[in-house]
Amino acid sequence: MKKILAVLLVAMLALSALCVASAEAKTYKVGVSIYQFTDNFMTLYRNELESYMKSLETDDMKFDITIQDAKNDMAEQTNQVRTFITQGMDVIILNLVQTSSADAVIDEIVAAGIPLVLINREPLGDDGDYSYAGILDNPEVCYVGADARQSGTYQGEMVCELENHGDINGDGKISYIMIEGDPENVDAQYRTEFSVKALTDAGYEVECLDDQVGNWDQTKGQELCANALTNYGDAIEVVFCNNDGMALGAATAIATAGRTVGEDIYLLGVDALDECVEMVKNGEMTGTVLNDHIGQSHAAVDAAIKLLKGEEIENYYIVDYVKVDKAYVDAQ
Ligand code: BGC
Repeated sequence: MKKILAVLLVAMLALSALCVASAEAKTYKVGVSIYQFTDNFMTLYRNELESYMKSLETDDMKFDITIQDAKNDMAEQTNQVRTFITQGMDVIILNLVQTSSADAVIDEIVAAGIPLVLINREPLGDDGDYSYAGILDNPEVCYVGADARQSGTYQGEMVCELENHGDINGDGKISYIMIEGDPENVDAQYRTEFSVKALTDAGYEVECLDDQVGNWDQTKGQELCANALTNYGDAIEVVFCNNDGMALGAATAIATAGRTVGEDIYLLGVDALDECVEMVKNGEMTGTVLNDHIGQSHAAVDAAIKLLKGEEIENYYIVDYVKVDKAYVDAQ
């Protein structure tokens, strides 16, 4: 009898232990590396990514999220990725420092069998093709971003839609300066190309007075715009900035030079940072383009969770831009 009781007791204990185990949440380790924490746009993006992922926790699915600053240094980011691999991350979300290093990094992560969500900076394959095969061929790798051609086109269209279509001095051509983001980034390349293409496609003549690299940075944007205003003065009719960070800097330079947006100069950015939307409303900026960090971060997290659950994903998730001019802001 005693023996039977003892066996029963052991069985009950084992059963209850099993029940506790199955009710316990599994915590998934999520490794995120952002190219640079000081970037205005990526700061909004990473904060939303973290809070949205936390909001999706359930009784049986928890997330232990580690977010690293790659400090715009590819070697640093490679180290972070290697540490993520040794730490046994369940999924990695990566905002590449250098898109041309995509092959090497993606290969290491894939070889470690860790699913990967690339965000914001579309990797460039060895063949110079943005439709990187490492993504297309892999059921556990995807890219979440936006089509930067659209944002550039919207910038140009906002100029075309002005009464004088950007030709303030009436000399028959739109004289502009371009302040570019990181030239290795497809967003910078496409915005530069397509903003101007929208003008020429609409049949307007253009004149590029200056085209400089500001690396997405506000201070650099201010410096470049100030220099251009010194060198070309009133000849500058339109200032195109590949992002709002640099447009904020340009706005300061424009004010310092005694010029007035909407009267004797036009200023365009991309991202729709809160302060820039406010400036569009007040007329201090001609327009910006919403780079939907909420839609993009949510798509990235949704894809990461699908990968954790072993569900099928798409290789590309592309989120739409929205044109933010005065009419749009006033209608909000
Ligand atoms: C944003 C920039 C940002 C860059 C970072 C772009 O999509 O418009 O503001 O600096 O991404 O890669």
